[in-house]
Amino acid sequence: MVNKMTSTRATIVTANDQSIAAAADEIKRGGLVAFPTETVYGLGGDATNPDAIARIFATKTRPRFNPLIVHVSDLEQAEHLGMFNDVSRRLAQKFWPGALTMVLQKRDGSSICDLATAGLETIAIRVPNHKVAHRLLTSVNRPLAAPSANRSGSVSPTEADHVAHDFVDHPITIIDGGATSLGLESTVVAVNDDRVSLLRPGAIPRELIESVLGKPVEGTAQTTSPIQPHSPGQLKSHYAPRARVRLNATTIEHGEALLSFGRDVPKTAAPHIRLSETSDLHEAAANLFKALRALDAHGVETIAVMPIPNEGLGEAINDRLQRAAAPRP
Ligand code: TXA
Ligand code: MG
Repeated sequence: MVNKMTSTRATIVTANDQSIAAAADEIKRGGLVAFPTETVYGLGGDATNPDAIARIFATKTRPRFNPLIVHVSDLEQAEHLGMFNDVSRRLAQKFWPGALTMVLQKRDGSSICDLATAGLETIAIRVPNHKVAHRLLTSVNRPLAAPSANRSGSVSPTEADHVAHDFVDHPITIIDGGATSLGLESTVVAVNDDRVSLLRPGAIPRELIESVLGKPVEGTAQTTSPIQPHSPGQLKSHYAPRARVRLNATTIEHGEALLSFGRDVPKTAAPHIRLSETSDLHEAAANLFKALRALDAHGVETIAVMPIPNEGLGEAINDRLQRAAAPRP
Protein backbone atom coordinates (compact mmCIF):
# COMPACT_ATOMS: atom_id res chain seq x y z
CA MET A 1 0.00 0.00 0.00
CA VAL A 2 1.44 3.37 -0.98
CA ASN A 3 1.81 5.88 1.81
CA LYS A 4 -0.09 8.91 0.53
CA MET A 5 1.80 11.34 2.72
CA THR A 6 4.97 10.55 0.77
CA SER A 7 3.57 9.70 -2.67
CA THR A 8 3.83 12.47 -5.23
CA ARG A 9 1.97 10.52 -7.87
CA ALA A 10 -1.66 9.68 -8.43
CA THR A 11 -2.68 6.43 -6.74
CA ILE A 12 -5.69 4.35 -7.77
CA VAL A 13 -7.46 2.48 -4.97
CA THR A 14 -10.44 0.13 -5.26
CA ALA A 15 -13.61 1.49 -3.67
CA ASN A 16 -14.31 -0.23 -0.34
CA ASP A 17 -15.02 0.81 3.27
CA GLN A 18 -11.34 1.11 4.11
CA SER A 19 -10.27 3.13 1.07
CA ILE A 20 -13.26 5.45 1.39
CA ALA A 21 -12.49 6.07 5.09
CA ALA A 22 -8.84 6.82 4.24
CA ALA A 23 -9.91 9.13 1.42
CA ALA A 24 -12.28 10.96 3.77
CA ASP A 25 -9.39 11.55 6.22
CA GLU A 26 -7.25 12.84 3.42
CA ILE A 27 -9.94 15.33 2.38
CA LYS A 28 -10.32 16.51 5.99
CA ARG A 29 -6.56 17.17 6.01
CA GLY A 30 -6.95 19.34 2.89
CA GLY A 31 -5.98 16.71 0.32
CA LEU A 32 -7.66 15.95 -3.00
CA VAL A 33 -9.47 12.74 -3.90
CA ALA A 34 -10.93 11.83 -7.28
CA PHE A 35 -14.14 9.85 -6.93
CA PRO A 36 -16.79 8.37 -9.21
CA THR A 37 -20.25 9.84 -9.63
CA GLU A 38 -22.99 8.67 -11.99
CA THR A 39 -21.96 11.38 -14.49
CA VAL A 40 -18.15 11.67 -14.58
CA TYR A 41 -15.33 11.38 -12.03
CA GLY A 42 -14.92 14.46 -9.84
CA LEU A 43 -11.76 15.92 -8.29
CA GLY A 44 -12.98 16.49 -4.76
CA GLY A 45 -11.78 18.73 -1.98
CA ASP A 46 -13.23 20.24 1.21
CA ALA A 47 -15.37 23.16 -0.01
CA THR A 48 -14.83 24.97 3.30
CA ASN A 49 -11.01 24.87 3.02
CA PRO A 50 -9.48 27.58 0.78
CA ASP A 51 -6.15 25.72 0.53
CA ALA A 52 -7.84 22.59 -0.77
CA ILE A 53 -9.86 24.62 -3.27
CA ALA A 54 -6.76 26.49 -4.45
CA ARG A 55 -5.14 23.09 -5.00
CA ILE A 56 -8.09 21.96 -7.16
CA PHE A 57 -7.72 25.01 -9.42
CA ALA A 58 -3.95 24.54 -9.63
CA THR A 59 -4.15 20.79 -10.33
CA LYS A 60 -6.65 21.28 -13.15
CA THR A 61 -5.00 24.52 -14.35
CA ARG A 62 -8.51 25.88 -14.23
CA PRO A 63 -9.04 29.65 -14.39
CA ARG A 64 -10.11 30.86 -10.98
CA PHE A 65 -13.07 32.80 -12.37
CA ASN A 66 -14.78 29.50 -13.22
CA PRO A 67 -16.71 28.39 -10.10
CA LEU A 68 -16.96 24.78 -8.86
CA ILE A 69 -19.99 22.60 -8.16
CA VAL A 70 -20.47 21.85 -4.46
CA HIS A 71 -21.65 18.30 -3.72
CA VAL A 72 -23.69 17.36 -0.67
CA SER A 73 -25.40 14.17 0.49
CA ASP A 74 -29.01 15.38 0.52
CA LEU A 75 -31.43 18.30 0.21
CA GLU A 76 -31.22 19.05 3.92
CA GLN A 77 -27.46 19.69 3.61
CA ALA A 78 -28.05 21.70 0.46
CA GLU A 79 -30.48 24.00 2.30
CA HIS A 80 -27.55 25.18 4.47
CA LEU A 81 -25.70 26.40 1.39
CA GLY A 82 -28.25 27.87 -1.01
CA MET A 83 -31.56 29.76 -0.89
CA PHE A 84 -34.25 27.32 -2.03
CA ASN A 85 -37.77 28.25 -3.11
CA ASP A 86 -40.74 26.13 -4.19
CA VAL A 87 -39.35 25.66 -7.70
CA SER A 88 -35.84 24.58 -6.68
CA ARG A 89 -37.26 22.34 -3.96
CA ARG A 90 -39.56 20.67 -6.46
CA LEU A 91 -36.64 20.06 -8.84
CA ALA A 92 -34.54 18.72 -5.95
CA GLN A 93 -37.29 16.34 -4.88
CA LYS A 94 -37.72 15.10 -8.44
CA PHE A 95 -34.08 14.86 -9.56
CA TRP A 96 -31.92 14.40 -6.43
CA PRO A 97 -29.95 12.35 -5.92
CA GLY A 98 -29.09 12.74 -9.57
CA ALA A 99 -27.49 14.59 -12.44
CA LEU A 100 -29.06 18.00 -11.91
CA THR A 101 -26.95 20.91 -10.64
CA MET A 102 -28.85 23.97 -9.44
CA VAL A 103 -27.33 27.46 -9.30
CA LEU A 104 -29.01 29.37 -6.46
CA GLN A 105 -28.35 32.44 -4.37
CA LYS A 106 -25.65 31.54 -1.85
CA ARG A 107 -26.93 31.50 1.73
CA ASP A 108 -25.40 34.24 3.91
CA GLY A 109 -22.88 32.89 6.38
CA SER A 110 -22.54 29.54 4.62
CA SER A 111 -19.30 27.70 5.30
CA ILE A 112 -18.29 27.51 1.62
CA CYS A 113 -15.11 29.43 0.81
CA ASP A 114 -15.34 32.25 -1.72
CA LEU A 115 -12.75 30.69 -4.01
CA ALA A 116 -15.04 27.68 -4.63
CA THR A 117 -17.80 29.95 -5.93
CA ALA A 118 -15.32 32.30 -7.65
CA GLY A 119 -16.57 35.14 -5.49
CA LEU A 120 -20.09 34.99 -7.00
CA GLU A 121 -23.29 35.58 -5.03
CA THR A 122 -24.53 32.25 -6.37
CA ILE A 123 -23.58 28.65 -5.67
CA ALA A 124 -23.93 25.51 -7.82
CA ILE A 125 -25.16 22.53 -5.78
CA ARG A 126 -25.65 18.87 -6.62
CA VAL A 127 -26.48 15.62 -4.79
CA PRO A 128 -24.80 12.82 -6.75
CA ASN A 129 -26.53 9.47 -7.22
CA HIS A 130 -23.64 7.07 -6.69
CA LYS A 131 -22.92 4.72 -3.81
CA VAL A 132 -19.22 5.61 -3.55
CA ALA A 133 -19.82 9.36 -3.83
CA HIS A 134 -22.54 9.14 -1.21
CA ARG A 135 -20.39 7.15 1.22
CA LEU A 136 -17.51 9.58 0.75
CA LEU A 137 -19.78 12.58 1.38
CA THR A 138 -21.25 11.09 4.54
CA SER A 139 -17.79 10.06 5.82
CA VAL A 140 -16.29 13.51 5.25
CA ASN A 141 -19.48 15.14 6.52
CA ARG A 142 -18.56 18.40 4.79
CA PRO A 143 -19.58 19.74 1.37
CA LEU A 144 -17.20 18.67 -1.39
CA ALA A 145 -16.24 20.94 -4.26
CA ALA A 146 -15.65 18.70 -7.24
CA PRO A 147 -15.11 19.74 -10.83
CA SER A 148 -14.69 16.98 -13.40
CA ALA A 149 -11.34 15.26 -12.74
CA ASN A 150 -9.60 16.23 -15.99
CA ARG A 151 -7.15 18.92 -16.99
CA SER A 152 -9.04 22.12 -17.74
CA GLY A 153 -10.37 22.14 -21.30
CA SER A 154 -9.79 18.44 -21.95
CA VAL A 155 -12.19 15.49 -22.11
CA SER A 156 -14.02 14.57 -18.88
CA PRO A 157 -13.09 11.25 -17.23
CA THR A 158 -15.55 8.37 -17.09
CA GLU A 159 -13.06 5.83 -15.70
CA ALA A 160 -10.38 5.92 -12.98
CA ASP A 161 -7.66 5.37 -15.61
CA HIS A 162 -8.71 8.55 -17.41
CA VAL A 163 -8.09 10.52 -14.20
CA ALA A 164 -4.70 8.85 -13.70
CA HIS A 165 -3.78 9.69 -17.30
CA ASP A 166 -4.45 13.41 -16.76
CA PHE A 167 -2.96 13.71 -13.26
CA VAL A 168 -0.22 11.10 -13.09
CA ASP A 169 2.26 13.50 -11.46
CA HIS A 170 -0.11 14.84 -8.84
CA PRO A 171 -0.40 13.55 -5.26
CA ILE A 172 -4.06 12.60 -5.44
CA THR A 173 -5.94 9.43 -4.54
CA ILE A 174 -8.32 8.11 -7.18
CA ILE A 175 -11.12 5.91 -5.90
CA ASP A 176 -11.94 3.40 -8.61
CA GLY A 177 -15.66 2.70 -8.76
CA GLY A 178 -15.73 1.44 -12.34
CA ALA A 179 -17.04 3.24 -15.41
CA THR A 180 -19.64 5.93 -14.75
CA SER A 181 -23.13 4.99 -15.89
CA LEU A 182 -24.29 8.21 -17.58
CA GLY A 183 -21.00 9.42 -19.05
CA LEU A 184 -21.96 13.10 -19.42
CA GLU A 185 -21.75 15.84 -16.80
CA SER A 186 -24.80 17.02 -14.89
CA THR A 187 -27.28 19.45 -16.39
CA VAL A 188 -26.73 22.89 -14.84
CA VAL A 189 -29.74 25.17 -14.38
CA ALA A 190 -30.10 28.53 -12.66
CA VAL A 191 -33.26 29.10 -10.63
CA ASN A 192 -34.29 32.75 -10.20
CA ASP A 193 -37.71 33.13 -8.57
CA ASP A 194 -39.91 30.90 -10.75
CA ARG A 195 -37.63 31.13 -13.79
CA VAL A 196 -35.40 28.19 -14.66
CA SER A 197 -32.62 28.70 -17.22
CA LEU A 198 -30.29 26.18 -18.79
CA LEU A 199 -26.61 27.00 -18.21
CA ARG A 200 -25.20 23.69 -19.42
CA PRO A 201 -27.08 20.86 -21.14
CA GLY A 202 -26.20 17.54 -19.51
CA ALA A 203 -27.23 14.08 -18.43
CA ILE A 204 -30.80 15.09 -17.57
CA PRO A 205 -32.51 16.16 -20.81
CA ARG A 206 -34.11 19.59 -20.90
CA GLU A 207 -37.46 17.98 -21.84
CA LEU A 208 -37.55 16.04 -18.56
CA ILE A 209 -37.07 19.22 -16.51
CA GLU A 210 -39.74 20.96 -18.59
CA SER A 211 -42.20 18.14 -17.93
CA VAL A 212 -41.74 18.65 -14.18
CA LEU A 213 -42.03 22.44 -14.44
CA GLY A 214 -44.92 22.33 -16.90
CA LYS A 215 -43.25 25.10 -18.93
CA PRO A 216 -40.16 25.66 -21.08
CA VAL A 217 -36.71 26.00 -19.57
CA GLU A 218 -35.21 29.28 -20.72
CA GLY A 219 -32.20 29.24 -23.02
CA THR A 220 -29.77 31.48 -21.25
CA ALA A 221 -29.67 32.64 -17.67
CA GLN A 222 -29.30 36.19 -16.53
CA THR A 223 -26.41 35.11 -14.30
CA THR A 224 -22.98 35.78 -15.72
CA SER A 225 -22.16 32.17 -16.36
CA PRO A 226 -18.67 31.57 -17.70
CA ILE A 227 -19.97 28.42 -19.39
CA GLN A 228 -22.75 29.97 -21.46
CA PRO A 229 -21.34 32.13 -24.22
CA HIS A 230 -23.59 35.01 -25.24
CA SER A 231 -23.04 34.41 -28.92
CA PRO A 232 -22.02 31.30 -30.82
CA GLY A 233 -18.84 33.09 -31.93
CA GLN A 234 -17.66 32.99 -28.34
CA LEU A 235 -18.06 29.25 -28.12
CA LYS A 236 -15.05 28.26 -26.09
CA SER A 237 -12.91 25.26 -26.86
CA HIS A 238 -13.56 22.71 -24.14
CA TYR A 239 -13.97 18.95 -23.73
CA ALA A 240 -11.35 18.77 -26.45
CA PRO A 241 -9.15 15.82 -27.41
CA ARG A 242 -5.73 16.52 -28.91
CA ALA A 243 -6.99 15.65 -32.41
CA ARG A 244 -9.16 18.09 -34.35
CA VAL A 245 -12.85 17.22 -34.42
CA ARG A 246 -14.98 17.42 -37.60
CA LEU A 247 -18.74 17.36 -37.07
CA ASN A 248 -21.65 16.03 -39.16
CA ALA A 249 -19.35 13.80 -41.18
CA THR A 250 -21.04 11.47 -43.66
CA THR A 251 -17.82 10.44 -45.40
CA ILE A 252 -14.36 9.82 -44.01
CA GLU A 253 -11.19 11.42 -45.34
CA HIS A 254 -7.53 10.41 -45.31
CA GLY A 255 -5.92 10.74 -41.87
CA GLU A 256 -9.23 10.72 -40.03
CA ALA A 257 -10.65 8.38 -37.42
CA LEU A 258 -14.40 7.76 -37.31
CA LEU A 259 -16.86 8.17 -34.46
CA SER A 260 -20.07 6.72 -35.82
CA PHE A 261 -23.72 6.78 -34.81
CA GLY A 262 -26.31 4.39 -36.15
CA ARG A 263 -26.03 1.51 -38.59
CA ASP A 264 -25.48 3.42 -41.81
CA VAL A 265 -21.72 3.88 -41.50
CA PRO A 266 -19.17 4.71 -44.24
CA LYS A 267 -16.77 1.82 -44.92
CA THR A 268 -13.30 2.50 -43.54
CA ALA A 269 -10.07 0.82 -42.49
CA ALA A 270 -9.28 3.78 -40.22
CA PRO A 271 -9.72 3.63 -36.41
CA HIS A 272 -13.46 3.50 -35.81
CA ILE A 273 -15.62 3.51 -32.66
CA ARG A 274 -19.42 3.18 -32.67
CA LEU A 275 -21.15 5.49 -30.20
CA SER A 276 -24.31 3.45 -30.64
CA GLU A 277 -25.17 1.10 -33.47
CA THR A 278 -28.86 1.17 -32.51
CA SER A 279 -28.95 5.01 -32.40
CA ASP A 280 -29.55 4.91 -28.64
CA LEU A 281 -28.66 8.33 -27.20
CA HIS A 282 -28.12 6.95 -23.68
CA GLU A 283 -25.59 4.48 -24.98
CA ALA A 284 -23.94 7.20 -27.09
CA ALA A 285 -23.66 9.52 -24.07
CA ALA A 286 -22.12 6.79 -21.93
CA ASN A 287 -19.53 6.02 -24.65
CA LEU A 288 -18.72 9.56 -25.83
CA PHE A 289 -15.76 10.67 -23.68
CA LYS A 290 -14.12 7.25 -23.57
CA ALA A 291 -14.39 7.03 -27.36
CA LEU A 292 -12.84 10.47 -27.87
CA ARG A 293 -9.93 9.53 -25.60
CA ALA A 294 -9.46 6.16 -27.33
CA LEU A 295 -9.48 7.61 -30.87
CA ASP A 296 -7.12 10.34 -29.75
CA ALA A 297 -4.70 7.67 -28.52
CA HIS A 298 -4.36 6.45 -32.15
CA GLY A 299 -2.58 9.73 -32.90
CA VAL A 300 -4.90 10.64 -35.80
CA GLU A 301 -5.02 14.21 -37.02
CA THR A 302 -8.81 14.48 -37.03
CA ILE A 303 -11.79 12.65 -35.56
CA ALA A 304 -14.78 12.70 -37.93
CA VAL A 305 -18.08 12.49 -36.06
CA MET A 306 -21.34 11.46 -37.70
CA PRO A 307 -24.49 13.58 -37.14
CA ILE A 308 -26.40 13.01 -33.90
CA PRO A 309 -30.04 14.09 -33.45
CA ASN A 310 -30.43 17.12 -31.21
CA GLU A 311 -33.32 15.95 -29.03
CA GLY A 312 -33.17 14.51 -25.51
CA LEU A 313 -29.61 13.65 -24.51
CA GLY A 314 -28.55 14.62 -28.03
CA GLU A 315 -28.55 18.28 -26.95
CA ALA A 316 -25.80 17.63 -24.39
CA ILE A 317 -23.85 15.29 -26.67
CA ASN A 318 -23.87 17.89 -29.46
CA ASP A 319 -22.92 20.64 -27.00
CA ARG A 320 -19.81 18.69 -25.97
CA LEU A 321 -18.95 17.83 -29.56
CA GLN A 322 -19.33 21.46 -30.69
CA ARG A 323 -16.99 22.59 -27.93
CA ALA A 324 -14.54 19.83 -28.83
CA ALA A 325 -14.64 21.08 -32.43
CA ALA A 326 -14.36 24.80 -31.56
CA PRO A 327 -11.22 26.69 -32.61
CA ARG A 328 -8.42 26.18 -30.08
CA PRO A 329 -6.77 29.13 -28.35
O1 TXA B 1 -21.52 16.01 -13.47
C1 TXA B 1 -20.92 17.00 -13.02
O2 TXA B 1 -21.47 18.10 -12.89
C2 TXA B 1 -19.46 16.79 -12.59
C3 TXA B 1 -19.45 15.82 -11.41
C4 TXA B 1 -18.07 15.61 -10.85
O3 TXA B 1 -20.33 16.26 -10.43
N1 TXA B 1 -18.86 18.04 -12.27
C5 TXA B 1 -18.57 18.99 -13.21
O4 TXA B 1 -17.94 20.11 -12.71
O5 TXA B 1 -18.85 18.85 -14.38
P1 TXA B 1 -17.22 21.20 -13.64
O6 TXA B 1 -16.52 22.11 -12.70
O7 TXA B 1 -16.40 20.52 -14.65
O8 TXA B 1 -18.41 21.98 -14.27
C6 TXA B 1 -19.22 22.81 -13.47
C7 TXA B 1 -19.83 23.89 -14.29
C8 TXA B 1 -18.76 24.86 -14.72
O9 TXA B 1 -18.77 25.00 -16.11
C9 TXA B 1 -19.12 26.15 -14.00
O10 TXA B 1 -18.93 27.28 -14.80
C10 TXA B 1 -20.59 25.97 -13.66
O11 TXA B 1 -20.78 24.60 -13.48
N2 TXA B 1 -20.89 26.70 -12.42
C11 TXA B 1 -20.47 26.41 -11.17
N3 TXA B 1 -20.89 27.34 -10.28
C12 TXA B 1 -21.62 28.24 -10.99
C13 TXA B 1 -22.31 29.45 -10.66
N4 TXA B 1 -22.35 29.92 -9.41
N5 TXA B 1 -22.93 30.11 -11.66
C14 TXA B 1 -22.91 29.66 -12.94
N6 TXA B 1 -22.25 28.53 -13.31
C15 TXA B 1 -21.61 27.83 -12.37
MG1 MG C 1 -15.47 19.99 -16.44
